[in-house]
Amino acid sequence: MDYPLASSSWGTEENAALQRVIQSGNFTMGENVARFEKSFAEKVGSRFAAMMSSGSAANLVGVASLFFKKDQPLKPGDEVIVPAISWATTYYPLQQYGLKLKFLDVDLHTLNMDTTRLKEALTPRTRMVVAVSILGNPAPLDKIKKFCDENKLYFFEDNCESMGAELNGKQCGTFGDIGTYSTFFSHHISTMEGGLLVTDDEELYHLALCLRAHGWTRQLPEGTSLYQKKEEDFFEAYRFILPGYNVRPLELSGAVGLEQLKKLDQIVAIRRKNAEHFVKLFKNDERFIIQKENGKSSWFSFTLILNPALDLDRSEILETLKKAGIQFRIITGGNFLRHDVIQHFDYECIGPATNADLAHDRGFFVGNFPFEARDKIDYLKKTLDSSR
Ligand SMILES: Cc1ncc(COP(=O)(O)O)c(C=O)c1O
Repeated sequence: MDYPLASSSWGTEENAALQRVIQSGNFTMGENVARFEKSFAEKVGSRFAAMMSSGSAANLVGVASLFFKKDQPLKPGDEVIVPAISWATTYYPLQQYGLKLKFLDVDLHTLNMDTTRLKEALTPRTRMVVAVSILGNPAPLDKIKKFCDENKLYFFEDNCESMGAELNGKQCGTFGDIGTYSTFFSHHISTMEGGLLVTDDEELYHLALCLRAHGWTRQLPEGTSLYQKKEEDFFEAYRFILPGYNVRPLELSGAVGLEQLKKLDQIVAIRRKNAEHFVKLFKNDERFIIQKENGKSSWFSFTLILNPALDLDRSEILETLKKAGIQFRIITGGNFLRHDVIQHFDYECIGPATNADLAHDRGFFVGNFPFEARDKIDYLKKTLDSSR
């Protein structure tokens, strides 16, 4: 049996949407992207959404926006608290803008930031916490938000792995000053490449619109603190006010996003149903620690960490999976501190990253799907049992 890491949720609707854009001949960011952004903001319950060319671009623009706020902007040398497990492009914009990273270990069961040392990580230079809900599972966003509010810190939510997840009835990605999502192929919805930034803060939204497209004024409403229109239209056409990027999405992505968004609830419901079966099969299997749901996960995939109390060899297990055609990966890149790129960062780890190391050395994940996958999960269990 084939057990891939991910699979497509596209159908004829997405193909028709692509064809409509092709027929129109308008490929650069326009009406489809704008409609997708509006629908997405409504769906997650945020005031504003801006689509970007990727989730990484949304992280970059989001961090950059905080550096150009009128009041209390971030400054190089400021400190930001981050979890030890996340995707590389959660961290890169922080490094690129000169922030110092304070790493916290993750909880071994949820795989999200362990908040017990948050206070220890706090210094007079701390300005922000970045929370990441790993593989669909809500991070302790309520606790982190409270900590940020109490200490007047920005709260940045990289929700690129957890679209559709909820905590206390609120969509993940909407707890912070800024939240980001990815719509890359393997994610809950796919626009080929793509990402979104959401915020309730109008100033941050305007900054993001400007930074997304050349740092120019074209998408901005006139007469805000960020942009006062001048007399001459000639110069207004190409007016640059911030050192920005070009990370605009294509109309093709916006049009597909609109179709995919209609399917999101159904996709998440099926993923949850698959997860129920996975949990049932593996929760009492003492060989593995599986991800413990916090709130309502949208179950990007299924994680397995070999029980540190048992003498189990991951490479042997992975070899068995490989032979059986079951694909796997390290959990979100594992402990980021163990990657070579860390030498380029200004950072400190608050306490040992023991659990991130365990996930790195003894963990892996396998795919979950936007279709009913009981048979695949049974096959996974059977294959793992055969390697005992
Ligand atoms: C936590 C996290 N942040 C950011 C990204 C980057 O998203 P993209 O691949 O759309 O650039 C990913 C990618 O999977 C991710 O897992």
